[in-house]
Amino acid sequence: MRNPQAIVSIVLVSLAAIMLLVGWLAADPAEDGPDAAPQAFDRALAESYVKAGCWQCHSVETLRDQLNAEFGAGAGGDLPVGPDLSGMALQYHPDWHAAHFWDPGAVVAGSQMPAQHQLFDGQQLSTRGRDVIRFMLTLDAAPRSRTQWPTGNHELPPGDAARGKALFARHCSGCHGDGGNGDGPAARWFKATRPPARLAKGEAYRTSGQPRQSVYNTLTNGLPGTGMPSFFRLPDQDRADLTEYTVELLGR
Ligand code: HEC
Ligand code: HEC
Repeated sequence: MRNPQAIVSIVLVSLAAIMLLVGWLAADPAEDGPDAAPQAFDRALAESYVKAGCWQCHSVETLRDQLNAEFGAGAGGDLPVGPDLSGMALQYHPDWHAAHFWDPGAVVAGSQMPAQHQLFDGQQLSTRGRDVIRFMLTLDAAPRSRTQWPTGNHELPPGDAARGKALFARHCSGCHGDGGNGDGPAARWFKATRPPARLAKGEAYRTSGQPRQSVYNTLTNGLPGTGMPSFFRLPDQDRADLTEYTVELLGR
């Protein structure tokens, strides 16, 4: 081993092996798998979110470190009052967000979130309002802590239309209107997509020959890419009762 070049290459090869080993040990096995997709970070849009003060009530688990590092401790949401906002892009349409900022209670029954009128110029979203929504649309990494909206077919229990009518007034009328004519107070925000269906006029493009099953799936899964959200957090029985009343409204 007099050859200095040989010694240098042995040292280099050993160093590389050590680094590989350290890297392998340091990798958290929980980081594997589909729910660990990296979350892109758009600083300018994140700044709108921080300036809007959303962090006072919300966290973004998938961006916590970036938000805290860029905007100071707390921006990632230390003691969130409201739900974690990771993965929001997979859940709500931008029009839903606009309606929600204007009047949270019109789209979420009994909402505790205050209206965000500072994000509007008069009755239109301001540039900041649009940027906060664009930020929501960047949040497309599946969160670990939140349940994803369901998909597929679900087993439908028998329902009660009278009870469904009361639930409709509470959960649906903000968009679909009290009488199911698509004229609830939040309806005007649904511009980029189809407005809330005029159920009382039989309007239900995606409802098949098995209306109960279709409506129940719609309520459980939402209609991705439209303003119609999922109601999977409501108990099965409530969704079944709502289904019964909605099918009656549709006249099917
Ligand atoms: C004073 C506290 C508070 C502030 C400020 C606040 N929110 Fe909320 N937010 C809530 C609460 C509480 C909820 C839970 C559902 C409800 O009550 O509507 C919520 C719900 C939400 C939801 C729906 C989450 C889900 O899983 O359905 C979104 C999206 C959201 N807020 C976004 C924002 C954004 C963006 C901002 C800033 C412009 C903001 N919120 C400001 C308290 C707040
Ligand atoms: C935030 C607004 C909003 C709320 C709240 C809402 N909807 Fe909708 N709904 C929509 C929109 C928008 C559409 C139209 C979707 C499309 O076809 O583009 C829709 C469509 C529908 C459809 C038609 C699906 C089809 O076959 O085309 C049904 C049925 C329906 N909603 C039932 C309900 C019921 C029942 C509730 C209450 C539990 C409810 N919706 C709450 C916005 C809303």
